Amino acid sequence: METSLSQASILIVDDDSKSLLALEQLLQSVTQKVVVANSGEEALRCVLKQDFAVILLDARMPGVDGFETARLIRERERSRHTPIIFLTGAYEDLHSVFRGYEAGAVDYIVKPLVPEILKSKISVFVELYIKNAVLIREIADRKLAEEHSRKSEENLRALAAHLQSVREEEWTRIAREIHDELGQSLTGLKMDLTWVVNRLPGDQRVLAERMKSMFGLIDGTIQSVRKIASRLRPEVLDQLGLTAAIGWCAGDFRKRTGIRCKVSLPSDTLILDHERSTAAFRIFQELLTNVARHANATRIDVAMRVDSGALVLTVEDNGRGIAESAIEDSKSLGLLGMRERVLPFGGAIEIAGVRDKGTKVRVCIPLGLK
Ligand SMILES: Nc1ncnc2c1ncn2[C@@H]1O[C@H](COP(=O)(O)OP(=O)(O)OP(=O)(O)O)[C@@H](O)[C@H]1O
Ligand SMILES: [Mg+2]
Repeated sequence: METSLSQASILIVDDDSKSLLALEQLLQSVTQKVVVANSGEEALRCVLKQDFAVILLDARMPGVDGFETARLIRERERSRHTPIIFLTGAYEDLHSVFRGYEAGAVDYIVKPLVPEILKSKISVFVELYIKNAVLIREIADRKLAEEHSRKSEENLRALAAHLQSVREEEWTRIAREIHDELGQSLTGLKMDLTWVVNRLPGDQRVLAERMKSMFGLIDGTIQSVRKIASRLRPEVLDQLGLTAAIGWCAGDFRKRTGIRCKVSLPSDTLILDHERSTAAFRIFQELLTNVARHANATRIDVAMRVDSGALVLTVEDNGRGIAESAIEDSKSLGLLGMRERVLPFGGAIEIAGVRDKGTKVRVCIPLGLK
């Protein structure tokens, strides 16, 4: 919205109707919104109803005089900062000039007025008022935009957390189905095959060989099914808890990658809710995957402990060291996902890399215990 000079109002207060009219006509060339009042009381009513860029106030008036009017205008919240210019006769002494400033005047104009001086003074205040109004509106717009982006960020966070938990539930369900249904069918198949083998005539050596290889295939498939299911959602996490799951995962990592793993885990039982266990475990998996994919490390140190009411998990490798740019990159979605996972618990993740020395990641998840 464009704010033009004509949108600012000025108030002229004078008990002399002739000079009121003259001032009104003179100042209409500065702004079209000139409001007039012929007494202090009327002026006070006007400032209650609307805002003014500047108030031109006659010092000498019957009833509530200019000084008292200025004081009352200053007392009201709405007009506390409205500039007031006193109009006064040349006969006024210095004392009343001071009184005017004390009552809240910003300027003094002595009658008879020089129209050009008055107009230029008033224009300055009108311009200031308009610039101020533009600034206020800009601040309000910015606040609104900030509020919008804060809300949408919150919504996205909530959505990400929701998707995460939906995905986790889905994985758990699929893992269970693969494990139970496929596992059972394969076991059934193996039993049937044993039944057939036991009934094979002794001279069917070729068939017996084929059956043996079938046994091998079935066993291999059972192993694969177990592996797939436990990668989706390790049973050990749900049955034995986070400490056991971290130990199992580190062992599995060592076997798959050949990278040495030193693991230090708490000896006491860790009482942790399902959400925190899952978050810590998934972060740990992502950290190990990163080591295997990016670090070129030969060993890692894993430590988990409870410190000052928080679960602290650190993973340190001796690889090439993560670059600062990768830590801060908004495209590092793996790192971003880890950070998002700890946010709901008020946790934090610190990542530090030293070139050719290694990377250290410290994950902290407050346990939320009172
Ligand atoms: N342990 C590490 N050592 C060295 N560099 C690392 C390590 N971990 C991560 N990085 C660097 O940080 C980058 C970002 O990691 P991030 O996990 O976010 O993404 P990514 O592993 O490349 O992909 P994904 O989205 O599949 O996880 C990696 O591409 C890699 O360059
Ligand atoms: Mg990654």
